[in-house]
Amino acid sequence: WWDHVAPAAKDPINGVTEAFLADPSPYKINLGVGAYRDDKGRPVVLQCVREAEAKIAGSEFLESISASVSTKMVEESVKLVYGKDSDVVKEGRSAGVQALSGTGACRLFAEFQRRFHPESHIYFPDPTWSNHHNIWRDAQIPERTYHYYDPDSKSLDFAALMDDIKNAPDSSFFLLHPSAHNPTGVDPTEEQWREISYQFKVKGHFPFFDMAYQGFASGDLDKDAQAIRIFLEDEHLIGCAQSYAKSMGLYGHRVGCLSILCVDSKQAAAIRSQIQQIARAMYGSPPVHGILLVATILSDPNLKSLWIDEVKIMADRIQRKRTTLRQNLEKLGSSLNWEHITNQLGMFCFSGLTPYQVDRLAKEFHIYMTQDGRISMAGVTTGNVNYLANAIHEVTRS
Ligand code: LMR
Repeated sequence: WWDHVAPAAKDPINGVTEAFLADPSPYKINLGVGAYRDDKGRPVVLQCVREAEAKIAGSEFLESISASVSTKMVEESVKLVYGKDSDVVKEGRSAGVQALSGTGACRLFAEFQRRFHPESHIYFPDPTWSNHHNIWRDAQIPERTYHYYDPDSKSLDFAALMDDIKNAPDSSFFLLHPSAHNPTGVDPTEEQWREISYQFKVKGHFPFFDMAYQGFASGDLDKDAQAIRIFLEDEHLIGCAQSYAKSMGLYGHRVGCLSILCVDSKQAAAIRSQIQQIARAMYGSPPVHGILLVATILSDPNLKSLWIDEVKIMADRIQRKRTTLRQNLEKLGSSLNWEHITNQLGMFCFSGLTPYQVDRLAKEFHIYMTQDGRISMAGVTTGNVNYLANAIHEVTRS
Protein backbone atom coordinates (compact mmCIF):
# COMPACT_ATOMS: atom_id res chain seq x y z
CA TRP A 1 0.00 0.00 0.00
CA TRP A 2 2.66 2.51 0.88
CA ASP A 3 5.73 1.54 -1.15
CA HIS A 4 5.50 4.71 -3.19
CA VAL A 5 5.63 7.01 -0.14
CA ALA A 6 8.94 8.88 0.10
CA PRO A 7 9.93 10.86 3.21
CA ALA A 8 8.63 14.44 3.24
CA ALA A 9 11.10 17.31 3.12
CA LYS A 10 12.14 18.51 6.58
CA ASP A 11 10.20 21.49 7.87
CA PRO A 12 12.52 24.53 7.72
CA ILE A 13 11.71 25.51 11.33
CA ASN A 14 11.02 22.19 13.09
CA GLY A 15 14.05 20.69 11.30
CA VAL A 16 16.25 23.23 13.12
CA THR A 17 14.86 22.11 16.49
CA GLU A 18 15.57 18.47 15.57
CA ALA A 19 19.17 19.25 14.62
CA PHE A 20 19.64 21.25 17.82
CA LEU A 21 18.26 18.45 20.01
CA ALA A 22 20.53 15.90 18.34
CA ASP A 23 23.69 17.98 19.04
CA PRO A 24 25.40 16.85 22.30
CA SER A 25 27.54 20.03 22.61
CA PRO A 26 27.14 21.94 25.92
CA TYR A 27 27.62 25.21 23.98
CA LYS A 28 24.72 24.69 21.59
CA ILE A 29 22.23 27.50 21.03
CA ASN A 30 18.79 27.22 19.42
CA LEU A 31 17.88 30.38 17.50
CA GLY A 32 15.37 28.52 15.33
CA VAL A 33 11.78 28.40 16.51
CA GLY A 34 10.19 31.72 17.44
CA ALA A 35 9.00 30.80 20.90
CA TYR A 36 9.91 32.90 23.94
CA ARG A 37 12.72 31.88 26.29
CA ASP A 38 13.93 33.65 29.44
CA ASP A 39 17.44 34.98 29.99
CA LYS A 40 18.56 31.51 31.05
CA GLY A 41 17.19 30.02 27.82
CA ARG A 42 14.29 28.32 29.57
CA PRO A 43 10.68 28.22 28.35
CA VAL A 44 8.53 30.49 30.49
CA VAL A 45 5.23 29.83 32.20
CA LEU A 46 3.80 33.31 32.67
CA GLN A 47 2.60 34.25 36.14
CA CYS A 48 -0.82 35.15 34.72
CA VAL A 49 -1.04 31.60 33.32
CA ARG A 50 -0.05 30.08 36.68
CA GLU A 51 -2.74 32.13 38.41
CA ALA A 52 -5.33 31.26 35.79
CA GLU A 53 -4.43 27.58 36.20
CA ALA A 54 -5.00 27.82 39.93
CA LYS A 55 -8.30 29.56 39.31
CA ILE A 56 -9.65 26.91 36.94
CA ALA A 57 -8.26 23.90 38.80
CA GLY A 58 -10.97 21.35 39.34
CA SER A 59 -13.52 23.08 37.13
CA GLU A 60 -15.77 20.82 35.17
CA PHE A 61 -14.44 21.31 31.72
CA LEU A 62 -12.65 18.12 30.77
CA GLU A 63 -15.50 16.33 29.07
CA SER A 64 -16.66 19.27 26.99
CA ILE A 65 -16.34 23.01 26.97
CA SER A 66 -19.34 25.20 27.54
CA ALA A 67 -20.33 27.50 24.70
CA SER A 68 -19.98 30.42 27.09
CA VAL A 69 -16.24 29.80 27.70
CA SER A 70 -15.53 29.46 24.02
CA THR A 71 -17.62 32.54 23.23
CA LYS A 72 -15.85 34.48 25.98
CA MET A 73 -12.42 33.62 24.54
CA VAL A 74 -13.53 34.69 21.06
CA GLU A 75 -15.19 37.90 22.29
CA GLU A 76 -12.12 38.92 24.27
CA SER A 77 -9.79 38.06 21.39
CA VAL A 78 -11.81 40.17 19.02
CA LYS A 79 -11.65 43.12 21.45
CA LEU A 80 -7.91 42.66 21.75
CA VAL A 81 -7.32 42.99 18.07
CA TYR A 82 -9.99 45.45 16.89
CA GLY A 83 -10.22 47.51 20.10
CA LYS A 84 -12.78 47.09 22.87
CA ASP A 85 -14.74 50.18 21.84
CA SER A 86 -14.73 49.52 18.11
CA ASP A 87 -18.03 49.50 16.22
CA VAL A 88 -17.46 45.97 14.91
CA VAL A 89 -17.35 44.73 18.49
CA LYS A 90 -20.40 46.74 19.59
CA GLU A 91 -22.44 45.76 16.53
CA GLY A 92 -21.49 42.07 16.65
CA ARG A 93 -20.14 42.22 13.11
CA SER A 94 -17.28 39.81 13.58
CA ALA A 95 -17.54 36.13 12.78
CA GLY A 96 -15.08 34.71 15.31
CA VAL A 97 -14.25 31.11 16.10
CA GLN A 98 -11.68 29.47 18.35
CA ALA A 99 -8.86 27.93 16.35
CA LEU A 100 -5.82 25.70 16.81
CA SER A 101 -3.45 28.61 17.34
CA GLY A 102 -2.40 30.85 14.44
CA THR A 103 -1.69 27.93 12.11
CA GLY A 104 -5.17 26.53 12.67
CA ALA A 105 -6.76 29.95 12.17
CA CYS A 106 -4.90 30.41 8.86
CA ARG A 107 -5.84 26.89 7.77
CA LEU A 108 -9.54 27.46 8.53
CA PHE A 109 -9.46 30.72 6.63
CA ALA A 110 -7.67 29.19 3.62
CA GLU A 111 -10.31 26.46 3.45
CA PHE A 112 -13.09 29.04 3.78
CA GLN A 113 -11.47 31.08 1.00
CA ARG A 114 -11.34 28.01 -1.27
CA ARG A 115 -15.00 27.21 -0.67
CA PHE A 116 -16.37 30.67 -1.25
CA HIS A 117 -13.79 32.16 -3.65
CA PRO A 118 -12.53 29.05 -5.45
CA GLU A 119 -10.86 30.99 -8.26
CA SER A 120 -8.89 33.29 -5.97
CA HIS A 121 -5.18 33.53 -5.14
CA ILE A 122 -3.36 34.56 -2.01
CA TYR A 123 -0.61 37.17 -2.10
CA PHE A 124 2.19 36.62 0.44
CA PRO A 125 4.94 39.08 1.34
CA ASP A 126 8.34 38.00 0.07
CA PRO A 127 9.50 36.49 2.35
CA THR A 128 6.84 35.20 4.71
CA TRP A 129 6.56 32.57 7.47
CA SER A 130 7.47 29.28 5.77
CA ASN A 131 4.30 27.53 6.90
CA HIS A 132 2.03 30.00 5.07
CA HIS A 133 3.08 28.31 1.83
CA ASN A 134 2.07 24.88 3.14
CA ILE A 135 -1.23 26.05 4.57
CA TRP A 136 -2.61 27.69 1.43
CA ARG A 137 -1.11 24.99 -0.82
CA ASP A 138 -2.97 22.31 1.12
CA ALA A 139 -6.15 24.34 0.72
CA GLN A 140 -5.44 24.43 -3.03
CA ILE A 141 -5.24 28.19 -3.18
CA PRO A 142 -2.43 29.23 -5.55
CA GLU A 143 0.01 31.73 -4.09
CA ARG A 144 1.58 34.85 -5.51
CA THR A 145 4.06 37.13 -3.83
CA TYR A 146 4.38 40.84 -3.32
CA HIS A 147 7.64 42.69 -2.71
CA TYR A 148 8.34 43.35 0.93
CA TYR A 149 11.96 43.11 2.04
CA ASP A 150 14.95 44.72 0.38
CA PRO A 151 18.05 42.60 1.19
CA ASP A 152 20.43 45.47 0.34
CA SER A 153 19.01 47.99 2.78
CA LYS A 154 17.69 45.23 5.08
CA SER A 155 14.47 47.20 5.35
CA LEU A 156 11.07 47.54 3.70
CA ASP A 157 10.90 47.93 -0.08
CA PHE A 158 7.89 50.19 0.22
CA ALA A 159 7.81 51.48 -3.36
CA ALA A 160 7.87 47.95 -4.81
CA LEU A 161 5.27 46.79 -2.28
CA MET A 162 2.90 49.59 -3.32
CA ASP A 163 3.45 48.80 -7.00
CA ASP A 164 2.52 45.18 -6.42
CA ILE A 165 -0.63 46.16 -4.55
CA LYS A 166 -1.59 48.47 -7.42
CA ASN A 167 -0.77 45.92 -10.11
CA ALA A 168 -2.57 42.96 -8.53
CA PRO A 169 -5.99 42.21 -10.04
CA ASP A 170 -8.81 44.04 -8.23
CA SER A 171 -10.30 42.19 -5.25
CA SER A 172 -7.24 40.04 -4.54
CA PHE A 173 -6.59 38.35 -1.20
CA PHE A 174 -3.45 39.60 0.58
CA LEU A 175 -1.83 38.17 3.68
CA LEU A 176 -0.32 40.90 5.87
CA HIS A 177 1.72 40.69 9.07
CA PRO A 178 0.34 43.51 11.25
CA SER A 179 3.39 43.68 13.54
CA ALA A 180 6.72 41.96 14.16
CA HIS A 181 6.93 40.56 10.63
CA ASN A 182 8.09 36.94 10.51
CA PRO A 183 10.86 36.34 9.38
CA THR A 184 12.27 39.84 8.76
CA GLY A 185 11.35 41.90 11.83
CA VAL A 186 10.60 44.76 9.43
CA ASP A 187 7.23 46.52 9.71
CA PRO A 188 5.74 49.41 7.72
CA THR A 189 5.47 52.72 9.60
CA GLU A 190 2.09 54.12 10.61
CA GLU A 191 2.11 56.44 7.60
CA GLN A 192 2.97 53.57 5.27
CA TRP A 193 0.14 51.47 6.70
CA ARG A 194 -2.23 54.35 5.96
CA GLU A 195 -1.08 54.39 2.34
CA ILE A 196 -1.38 50.61 2.10
CA SER A 197 -4.89 50.71 3.54
CA TYR A 198 -5.89 53.49 1.14
CA GLN A 199 -4.60 51.54 -1.85
CA PHE A 200 -6.40 48.39 -0.68
CA LYS A 201 -9.59 50.43 -0.66
CA VAL A 202 -8.98 51.71 -4.19
CA LYS A 203 -8.34 48.18 -5.45
CA GLY A 204 -10.98 46.41 -3.34
CA HIS A 205 -8.39 43.93 -2.00
CA PHE A 206 -9.14 41.70 0.98
CA PRO A 207 -6.66 42.08 3.89
CA PHE A 208 -6.01 38.94 5.90
CA PHE A 209 -3.83 39.68 8.93
CA ASP A 210 -1.76 37.00 10.61
CA MET A 211 -1.31 38.34 14.13
CA ALA A 212 1.09 35.83 15.68
CA TYR A 213 3.24 38.17 17.77
CA GLN A 214 0.92 40.83 19.21
CA GLY A 215 2.91 42.77 21.82
CA PHE A 216 6.37 41.69 20.72
CA ALA A 217 7.07 44.60 18.37
CA SER A 218 6.49 47.46 20.79
CA GLY A 219 5.73 45.76 24.10
CA ASP A 220 2.24 47.27 23.85
CA LEU A 221 -0.69 45.14 22.66
CA ASP A 222 -2.74 48.08 21.36
CA LYS A 223 0.16 49.66 19.54
CA ASP A 224 0.92 46.38 17.83
CA ALA A 225 -2.67 46.30 16.55
CA GLN A 226 -2.32 49.76 15.01
CA ALA A 227 -2.17 48.51 11.41
CA ILE A 228 -5.45 46.64 11.86
CA ARG A 229 -7.08 49.66 13.51
CA ILE A 230 -6.04 51.80 10.53
CA PHE A 231 -7.74 49.36 8.17
CA LEU A 232 -10.79 49.46 10.45
CA GLU A 233 -10.96 53.25 10.28
CA ASP A 234 -10.99 52.89 6.51
CA GLU A 235 -13.92 50.48 6.86
CA HIS A 236 -12.30 47.41 5.37
CA LEU A 237 -13.80 44.03 5.96
CA ILE A 238 -10.85 42.19 7.46
CA GLY A 239 -9.84 38.65 8.28
CA CYS A 240 -7.51 37.99 11.21
CA ALA A 241 -5.69 34.99 12.66
CA GLN A 242 -4.63 35.41 16.30
CA SER A 243 -2.31 33.20 18.31
CA TYR A 244 -1.57 33.00 22.04
CA ALA A 245 1.36 30.62 21.45
CA LYS A 246 3.99 33.27 21.96
CA SER A 247 2.23 36.13 23.73
CA MET A 248 0.96 33.88 26.55
CA GLY A 249 3.65 31.21 26.22
CA LEU A 250 0.96 28.65 25.34
CA TYR A 251 2.57 27.14 22.23
CA GLY A 252 1.73 23.59 23.30
CA HIS A 253 -1.91 24.39 24.01
CA ARG A 254 -2.74 25.58 20.47
CA VAL A 255 -5.04 28.47 21.36
CA GLY A 256 -6.02 31.00 18.74
CA CYS A 257 -8.90 32.77 17.11
CA LEU A 258 -10.02 33.37 13.55
CA SER A 259 -12.24 36.37 12.94
CA ILE A 260 -13.79 37.76 9.78
CA LEU A 261 -15.50 41.16 9.81
CA CYS A 262 -18.89 41.30 8.14
CA VAL A 263 -21.41 43.87 6.95
CA ASP A 264 -23.88 42.99 9.72
CA SER A 265 -24.53 40.47 12.49
CA LYS A 266 -26.66 38.28 10.20
CA GLN A 267 -23.77 37.80 7.80
CA ALA A 268 -21.47 37.19 10.78
CA ALA A 269 -23.73 34.37 12.00
CA ALA A 270 -23.73 32.76 8.54
CA ILE A 271 -19.96 32.96 8.16
CA ARG A 272 -19.35 31.70 11.69
CA SER A 273 -21.55 28.65 11.04
CA GLN A 274 -19.62 27.86 7.84
CA ILE A 275 -16.26 28.06 9.58
CA GLN A 276 -17.54 25.93 12.44
CA GLN A 277 -18.63 23.36 9.89
CA ILE A 278 -15.14 23.33 8.34
CA ALA A 279 -13.55 22.86 11.78
CA ARG A 280 -16.01 20.11 12.68
CA ALA A 281 -14.91 18.01 9.72
CA MET A 282 -11.20 18.67 10.26
CA TYR A 283 -10.80 18.08 14.00
CA GLY A 284 -14.14 18.38 15.77
CA SER A 285 -13.25 21.05 18.25
CA PRO A 286 -9.97 22.23 19.79
CA PRO A 287 -8.67 21.10 23.20
CA VAL A 288 -10.36 22.94 26.05
CA HIS A 289 -7.66 23.63 28.61
CA GLY A 290 -5.85 26.39 26.76
CA ILE A 291 -9.08 28.09 25.77
CA LEU A 292 -10.15 28.15 29.39
CA LEU A 293 -6.81 29.66 30.42
CA VAL A 294 -7.00 32.41 27.80
CA ALA A 295 -10.66 33.17 28.54
CA THR A 296 -9.84 33.38 32.26
CA ILE A 297 -6.90 35.73 31.77
CA LEU A 298 -8.63 38.02 29.28
CA SER A 299 -11.83 38.37 31.27
CA ASP A 300 -10.23 39.00 34.68
CA PRO A 301 -8.97 42.63 34.87
CA ASN A 302 -6.17 41.73 37.33
CA LEU A 303 -4.90 38.79 35.33
CA LYS A 304 -5.18 40.76 32.12
CA SER A 305 -3.13 43.62 33.46
CA LEU A 306 -0.55 41.14 34.81
CA TRP A 307 -0.39 39.62 31.30
CA ILE A 308 0.07 43.06 29.71
CA ASP A 309 3.03 43.67 32.05
CA GLU A 310 4.53 40.28 31.29
CA VAL A 311 4.30 40.81 27.52
CA LYS A 312 6.24 44.03 27.98
CA ILE A 313 8.89 42.27 30.06
CA MET A 314 9.37 39.67 27.29
CA ALA A 315 9.50 42.29 24.52
CA ASP A 316 11.96 44.45 26.49
CA ARG A 317 14.29 41.53 27.18
CA ILE A 318 14.46 40.74 23.48
CA GLN A 319 15.09 44.40 22.69
CA ARG A 320 17.98 44.54 25.17
CA LYS A 321 19.56 41.47 23.59
CA ARG A 322 19.36 43.13 20.17
CA THR A 323 21.38 46.03 21.55
CA THR A 324 23.95 43.78 23.23
CA LEU A 325 24.39 41.58 20.17
CA ARG A 326 24.95 44.59 17.93
CA GLN A 327 27.34 46.24 20.40
CA ASN A 328 29.36 43.04 20.76
CA LEU A 329 29.72 42.65 17.01
CA GLU A 330 30.83 46.27 16.73
CA LYS A 331 33.31 45.85 19.60
CA LEU A 332 34.82 42.88 17.83
CA GLY A 333 35.67 45.24 14.99
CA SER A 334 33.30 43.73 12.44
CA SER A 335 33.54 45.70 9.23
CA LEU A 336 29.89 44.97 8.45
CA ASN A 337 26.95 47.17 9.31
CA TRP A 338 24.81 45.58 12.05
CA GLU A 339 22.33 48.45 12.52
CA HIS A 340 19.50 46.26 11.28
CA ILE A 341 19.73 44.13 14.43
CA THR A 342 18.36 47.05 16.44
CA ASN A 343 16.25 48.57 13.65
CA GLN A 344 14.21 45.41 13.20
CA LEU A 345 11.42 44.57 15.65
CA GLY A 346 9.81 41.68 17.44
CA MET A 347 11.13 38.19 17.96
CA PHE A 348 13.18 37.92 14.78
CA CYS A 349 16.30 39.42 13.34
CA PHE A 350 16.81 38.81 9.65
CA SER A 351 20.56 38.76 9.98
CA GLY A 352 21.63 38.69 6.34
CA LEU A 353 23.75 35.58 7.03
CA THR A 354 24.01 33.36 3.95
CA PRO A 355 23.04 29.65 3.96
CA TYR A 356 26.77 28.81 3.89
CA GLN A 357 27.41 30.98 6.97
CA VAL A 358 24.36 29.47 8.71
CA ASP A 359 25.78 25.99 8.03
CA ARG A 360 29.17 27.01 9.42
CA LEU A 361 27.52 28.34 12.58
CA ALA A 362 25.84 24.97 13.11
CA LYS A 363 28.85 22.79 12.25
CA GLU A 364 31.62 24.80 13.89
CA PHE A 365 29.81 26.61 16.71
CA HIS A 366 26.67 24.52 17.44
CA ILE A 367 24.46 27.53 16.79
CA TYR A 368 21.21 26.71 15.01
CA MET A 369 18.93 28.98 12.98
CA THR A 370 16.83 28.70 9.83
CA GLN A 371 18.66 28.64 6.49
CA ASP A 372 17.41 32.11 5.56
CA GLY A 373 19.53 33.58 8.38
CA ARG A 374 16.56 34.33 10.66
CA ILE A 375 17.65 34.59 14.29
CA SER A 376 15.01 34.01 16.93
CA MET A 377 16.18 36.69 19.35
CA ALA A 378 14.34 34.91 22.17
CA GLY A 379 17.17 32.37 22.15
CA VAL A 380 19.80 35.05 22.83
CA THR A 381 20.71 35.36 26.51
CA THR A 382 23.19 37.20 28.73
CA GLY A 383 25.07 33.91 28.97
CA ASN A 384 25.42 33.21 25.25
CA VAL A 385 25.45 36.60 23.54
CA ASN A 386 29.28 36.96 23.59
CA TYR A 387 29.77 33.47 22.21
CA LEU A 388 27.15 34.18 19.54
CA ALA A 389 28.71 37.51 18.52
CA ASN A 390 32.15 35.89 18.27
CA ALA A 391 30.80 33.08 16.12
CA ILE A 392 28.91 35.46 13.80
CA HIS A 393 32.05 37.59 13.52
CA GLU A 394 34.14 34.52 12.64
CA VAL A 395 31.84 33.36 9.83
CA THR A 396 31.32 36.84 8.37
CA ARG A 397 34.88 38.22 8.42
CA SER A 398 36.46 38.27 5.01
C1 LMR B 1 8.17 30.42 14.02
O1 LMR B 1 8.10 31.03 12.95
O2 LMR B 1 9.24 29.94 14.44
C2 LMR B 1 6.95 30.28 14.87
O3 LMR B 1 5.86 30.87 14.24
C3 LMR B 1 6.71 28.92 15.32
C4 LMR B 1 6.25 27.98 14.26
O4 LMR B 1 5.33 27.22 14.55
O5 LMR B 1 6.77 27.98 13.14
